[in-house]
Amino acid sequence: MNLGIIGAGYVGLTTGICLATQDHQIIVYDVDSDKIKKINESTLPFFEKGLEEKLKLTIKNNSLKTANNLEELVKNTDGCFICVGTPTKNDIIDLSQIKESITSLANCIEKNEKNNYNIIIRSTIVPSTTKNHIVPILRNIILKNNLGLSVTPEFLREGSALSDFMNPDKIVIGSENVNDGLFVEKIFDNFKNNCEIIHTNFESAELIKYTNNAFFSMLISFSNEISNISENLSNVDPYQILQSLVSDKRITSKLNNEKIIPDLASYLVPGCGFGGSCFPKDVKAILNFANEKNISTPLLKAILEINDERPTKMISLCESILGNLDNKKISFLGLTFKPETDDLRSSPTLIAIDKLKNSKIKISIFDPIIKKNSSSLSLPENCHLSETLVDCIQDSEAILVFTKWNEFKKLDGDLLSKHMKRPLIIDGRGFLEKTKFQNCEFHKIGLVEKLD
Ligand SMILES: NC(=O)c1ccc[n+]([C@@H]2O[C@H](COP(=O)([O-])OP(=O)(O)OC[C@H]3O[C@@H](n4cnc5c(N)ncnc54)[C@H](O)[C@@H]3O)[C@@H](O)[C@H]2O)c1
Repeated sequence: MNLGIIGAGYVGLTTGICLATQDHQIIVYDVDSDKIKKINESTLPFFEKGLEEKLKLTIKNNSLKTANNLEELVKNTDGCFICVGTPTKNDIIDLSQIKESITSLANCIEKNEKNNYNIIIRSTIVPSTTKNHIVPILRNIILKNNLGLSVTPEFLREGSALSDFMNPDKIVIGSENVNDGLFVEKIFDNFKNNCEIIHTNFESAELIKYTNNAFFSMLISFSNEISNISENLSNVDPYQILQSLVSDKRITSKLNNEKIIPDLASYLVPGCGFGGSCFPKDVKAILNFANEKNISTPLLKAILEINDERPTKMISLCESILGNLDNKKISFLGLTFKPETDDLRSSPTLIAIDKLKNSKIKISIFDPIIKKNSSSLSLPENCHLSETLVDCIQDSEAILVFTKWNEFKKLDGDLLSKHMKRPLIIDGRGFLEKTKFQNCEFHKIGLVEKLD
C-alpha cells in the first residue's frame, strides 16, 4: 500500500520504517526540515537500537522516501498516519500539532480532489478528541471526498521500539465505519496472526491508550508507596516485599514448573520515578480530562503526586548521609528517563537538577548517549556534563544513579575507591549488586534503614 507518515518523531519514523519493511511504500513528512534532511542521509534523528540499519535498508531499496511538502505526500499515497506530538501545556493536552496537521492535510485532500483517502490517528489523544476536534475540521471532505478516518494508538516503548512494533500484542482500530477499520487492518496484515485485532469506536480506542499508560505508571507509584512504608519500619526490604508480590501465581504463572515472570514485574521495583514522553504527560492529560468533566480521579492524582517526590528523594537520601551538600562534588549517572533512548522529556535526573539549580552543589553528570552537543539539553551553571564515567566520578563524594544503563554495571568498589573522594553510591533503580561494592557505602533507594 502507498502510505504517508506525518510527523517523523519516535513514533512516526518507527512506524514508517517498520511498515516499509512489510512491502508498503512509505512517504514521510515533517515540518522540521532538519529531520527530513537527516532521514534523506539515512541518519536516524534520534537514538533507537537497530532502527538506523533498517532506515538505511528502506531508503536504499526505495520503500521509504520523504516529501518536501504535504501535497507531495497526499498525491502519492492512499492514506496516512498522523504521528505528531501531543504534549501537555499546564497539565492539559495541547492539540495544536494535531489541529494544524489535520487542517493542512484536509486542505491538500480538498485541493487535489483526492477521493477515498484514509486518515489514521496514531498520536495519543484524550477521549472525544476525534469527535470534537478532528471530525469538525474534516467535516467538509468526509462525505464529499469519501474520506476514511480511524484511531489506531501506538503502544511501542522507546528502547525496544523496533521489536515492540514488529511484535505487537494488540492492534486497536477505532472507527465509525467498517471500511475505514478494514483499511487499517489490511496495513497490518502481516502482523495479524500473532496479535489481537480490536475493532472499536473512536472514544474507546482513545481511552485504551490512556488505560495502558495509567496502569503501568500506577504500578511504579504503587511500588514507591510500598517502599515509603517499608522505609519507616526497621529492617524491612521493599525489594523483597515486592518480589514476594511478583511470585503470587496471579502474576507469575508456571509452565512445566518453570516460572514465567511477566514484564510487568519490572514496574514493581522501588525507584527514582517514571519520566519520558508518555507516562507523565498522559496521566496528567487523562486526569485533567476527567476533572474537566467533574469525574473524580483520586488514583490518577496520587500516581503523579507519589512520582513527583521521587527525584528529590535521591537528593534527600544523599543529604541524610553527607549532611549539607554545598560545595561538594556529586555525580549524577544517567540523564535519559530510561536506558537505550536519548529522550530527555520529563527525565527524573533533569527534575532533580532543576531543583538544585540555585544550590552550591557541584554536579557532574555522565550519560552514555547524551553528549555536550545534544540540542535538547540545557544545564544550569552548577552542572558539568562529563565525557567519561571516570571523569564524572573523579574526586566526587557521592554517586547517584538515576538511569538503569547497562554501562553502570561496570561500576565496582575498586573503581569507586580509586577515583572518588568518598566511595558512596546510591542506586536509584535498584539494579546494582551490593556485593560488587565491598569497602564502599552502597545504598539502594528504599533501603534507608541501612544508613548509618
Ligand atoms: N514516544 C513514545 O514512546 C510514544 C509511544 C506511544 C505513543 N506516543 C504518542 O505518539 C505521538 C508522537 O510522539 P513522539 O514521541 O513520536 O513525538 P515527537 O515529538 O518525537 O515527534 C513528533 C513529530 O511531529 C512533527 N510535527 C509537528 N507538527 C507537525 C505538522 N503539522 N506536520 C508535520 N509534522 C509535524 C514534529 O516536528 C516532530 O518531529 C504522541 O501523541 C505520543 O504521545 C509516543
